[in-house]
Amino acid sequence: MKILGIETSCDETAAAVVEDGTRILSNQIASQVEIHARYGGIVPEVASRQHILSIIPIIEQAMAEAEVTWRDLAGIAVTIGPGLAGSLLVGVNVAKVVALARGLPITGVNHLEGHIYANWLADHNIDFPLVCLIVSGGHSDLVLMRGHGDYVVLGRTRDDAAGEAFDKAARILGLGYPGGPAIEQAARAGTASIQLPRAWLKGSSDFSFSGVKTALLRLVDGGKVSSVADAAASFQEAVIDVLVAKAVAVAKEHRVKQILLAGGVASNELLRDWLVKNSPLPVLVPEPVLCTDNAAMIAACGYYRLQAGKTDGLDLDVVPSLKMT
Ligand code: KG4
Ligand code: ZN
Repeated sequence: MKILGIETSCDETAAAVVEDGTRILSNQIASQVEIHARYGGIVPEVASRQHILSIIPIIEQAMAEAEVTWRDLAGIAVTIGPGLAGSLLVGVNVAKVVALARGLPITGVNHLEGHIYANWLADHNIDFPLVCLIVSGGHSDLVLMRGHGDYVVLGRTRDDAAGEAFDKAARILGLGYPGGPAIEQAARAGTASIQLPRAWLKGSSDFSFSGVKTALLRLVDGGKVSSVADAAASFQEAVIDVLVAKAVAVAKEHRVKQILLAGGVASNELLRDWLVKNSPLPVLVPEPVLCTDNAAMIAACGYYRLQAGKTDGLDLDVVPSLKMT
């Protein structure tokens, strides 16, 4: 069963064809990073205009690479949220038009759920129940997953998301955008020698990353940072320390079989290594290109939704503030 996935929630226009929820036949991504880098962050108006220009060519490329025609497809999966309203609208409307014209079933996918399903695209043996740590630009969620489409949110960020904290720290350190890869790169030349606070929020599985960011800002403003590399390494460790400890604690508490990592921040090598080293349970992580935004993960999630009979009508709409429930 071949599904076309469409993803336009933020600054990547992406289309992919995935077979049976696990086999990637194509995975095309048109990144807008260079356009937004000029402004130091994503400009929503610019993002939606760029999606309009890229969406049709990207779908055509994805179908050509997968060597499929519309007749070979069993359905369309499209991100409905969370994300930028204007960006989401482009993907959802194109998906609806195609579904209507070609008589294909359509399913709306939660972008965060999509991130989790990137793990089904790797050569993983996934076993429920599991805990998934989703760390992206807008979210840091700890989710208990008991089966396909069955989630319980155990913890989430109370302020900045992990990726957002990386992006803000990079701006404070003058490292540019996007911040996560820039911090990781800078940290390679430094040591984590600067003491930065960790918000443990005892008794809770929630996260908070605004304190560590503010502490970094104070040090930089006070002229107390002599090495950007050391500051980047110290910041990276402070964030990852908390992410790993909380994910492992929650997994033990709920006696799950595995820990899954997902979202853009999951492409961070230190996070991947520390989680593997500190977890008594198997840790599954998708390859970096499947951690950041892509449409293959949306198609994979869409496959399981369609299998469960979760189709949507042509009244399908965007939900910019959609959460994991
Ligand atoms: O999942 P994603 O591609 O988009 C959203 O759904 O938000 O995540 C993007 C976030 C950005 O904040 C980016 O700085 C962060 O993921 N990120 C990283 C790394 N690569 C991307 N953070 C830390 N280390 C990385 N290597
Ligand atoms: Zn994402």
